[in-house]
Amino acid sequence: MEMDWGMKNRISRIIQPDGRTVMLAVDHGYFLGPTSKLEVPRKTIEPLLPYADSVMLTRGVLRSSIRADTSTPIVLRVSGGTSVIGESLANEGITTPIVEALRLNAAAVALSIFVGTPHERQTLLSLSNMVTEGQSVGMPVLAVTAVGKELEKRDARYLALSCRIAAELGAHVVKTYYCDNFTKVVEGCPVPLVIAGGPKLETEMDAFKMTYSAIHEGAVGVDMGRNIWQNDNPIPMIKAVRSIVHDKATPKEAFDLFKSLKGKKK
Ligand code: R5P
Repeated sequence: MEMDWGMKNRISRIIQPDGRTVMLAVDHGYFLGPTSKLEVPRKTIEPLLPYADSVMLTRGVLRSSIRADTSTPIVLRVSGGTSVIGESLANEGITTPIVEALRLNAAAVALSIFVGTPHERQTLLSLSNMVTEGQSVGMPVLAVTAVGKELEKRDARYLALSCRIAAELGAHVVKTYYCDNFTKVVEGCPVPLVIAGGPKLETEMDAFKMTYSAIHEGAVGVDMGRNIWQNDNPIPMIKAVRSIVHDKATPKEAFDLFKSLKGKKK
């Protein structure tokens, strides 16, 4: 189906002319509370905004902590309703209606789906409804293939299933995890894929290698959080990730860039 201008325009604000994107994920508080290094959202987010192609957050942090004259496109998280100390992270609903995303001038909305859980139906129908509403107003929908606390679910078989279902229900972009045999996930998903970083990895090089592999195996970019802002040098980190996503840097080149930027800071 030919997309209307508004939809195309919004997607082009997220996925850059080179077909790639570095999204900055700072929505963690919606179920984790004051996550380490994101305790004061404005302090963490503001310095990184110039280097992010978009920023993914909730309406509360957007209104309280982001200047309205920012030029960084907003990807608004619209699902939630659960917490890390509650019974099940999968029991999410829609927290923010699409009309509010329009009022906030969002470039896209994002929601999680929890395939294989007792709540898969409600989260998948939420996705479907959000796509229907999004289509009618020109708002792209990013589906996050969430795994809740079960991080071991991040294998190609499960993620390929979740990503394909998200695409079938109409998601315009899908966010998933990098995994072994990632090409299987990419091949089965007919819409652009971005990867989350997941919990902070042991070294910067681990994050650069994961980014590089994901891009080379077909992801259009990253929607990364903790591996950027939980690092002691978040700006060098996001710039180094950008060099892989946008400038064809190898993990080693990204690491050299990280080290030199980090050195300059001191
Ligand atoms: C997704 O549902 C989370 O809220 C984060 O947006 C996502 O996990 C990306 O952040 P990180 O790179 O820290 O995993």
